[in-house]
Amino acid sequence: MKPRLLRQDATSFALMKGTVLDESPFPPVPDRPDLYDWLYRDTDKDIDMYRRLTAGHECILECAVGTGRLAIPLAQQGIEVHGIDNSAAMLNEFKAKLEGFPPELARRIHLEQADMRQFDLGRQYSFVFIPFGSFVYLLTLADQKACLTALRHHLAPGGTMVIDIPTWAEARDERWLDNDSRVMKVQQSIDADSGTTTEMWSTFRFDATTQLMEQDRHFRIYDREGMLQSERVVVWRSRFFLPGEFYLQADACDLEITQVYGDFQFGPFRHDSEVAVMVMRAS
Ligand SMILES: C[S@@+](CC[C@H](N)C(=O)[O-])C[C@H]1O[C@@H](n2cnc3c(N)ncnc32)[C@H](O)[C@@H]1O
Repeated sequence: MKPRLLRQDATSFALMKGTVLDESPFPPVPDRPDLYDWLYRDTDKDIDMYRRLTAGHECILECAVGTGRLAIPLAQQGIEVHGIDNSAAMLNEFKAKLEGFPPELARRIHLEQADMRQFDLGRQYSFVFIPFGSFVYLLTLADQKACLTALRHHLAPGGTMVIDIPTWAEARDERWLDNDSRVMKVQQSIDADSGTTTEMWSTFRFDATTQLMEQDRHFRIYDREGMLQSERVVVWRSRFFLPGEFYLQADACDLEITQVYGDFQFGPFRHDSEVAVMVMRAS
């Protein structure tokens, strides 16, 4: 009997070829920068590490720069920061934020809408990086490879490239890989001024054939009387992989991993590390 081409097979095949099928009715996370900024409003655990890694560099390139959570504090230490991101919404939010800072800081930040899988800024940098796990936004092996090749192209001779990738402790804790259909409450906060409460609830899906994880993030915002003001959903899609996949990809792109840290304090990479901070140079 002729095997039927299941939808699953079609998806896997498309992903192997580097095409991603987009079926979600919800906007992806970067199209809602206000919700992104709410979720990561207190996240600063990696800032000191990147301050120390970039110290002494005059001009650096941050890929997937987002709304400037990291780029702004780095530029505040006097460095010129070039940032690319493929989301116009995230970059617009970043530019709007810069209006609240002194003009000399804004002059040190250069933003461009570009895809980290394929871009050419026509120059090289002594420090190039993808922080905050954003490499997981690359959903296929082909995308990962294209990105590493593009970044290497922008790396000056003797320069340093850093990419931090998650070790997915969070995925284990929140059962992202279990395909448990229950909705989980992930975050809640009350705004002291307005009295509004914002909550995030999530559902998780994982496809082991493609290594793709999808999270629908349901946001609910209530006024101080507990009346629901608005409800919004965004989809967060990422590729689940372990460091071994990254080692192979770096090697295939002529990048030598010179150091791997297991936290943002330059601690060793161990089985229970929260992150793998890959420090590389061109081989
Ligand atoms: C988790 S945010 C990180 C933002 C910022 N680096 C930070 O540390 O807060 C991920 C960012 O990656 C961007 N992104 C995803 N895929 C991309 C791609 N192919 N090229 C460029 N940027 C991309 C998204 O638009 C989003 O702004």
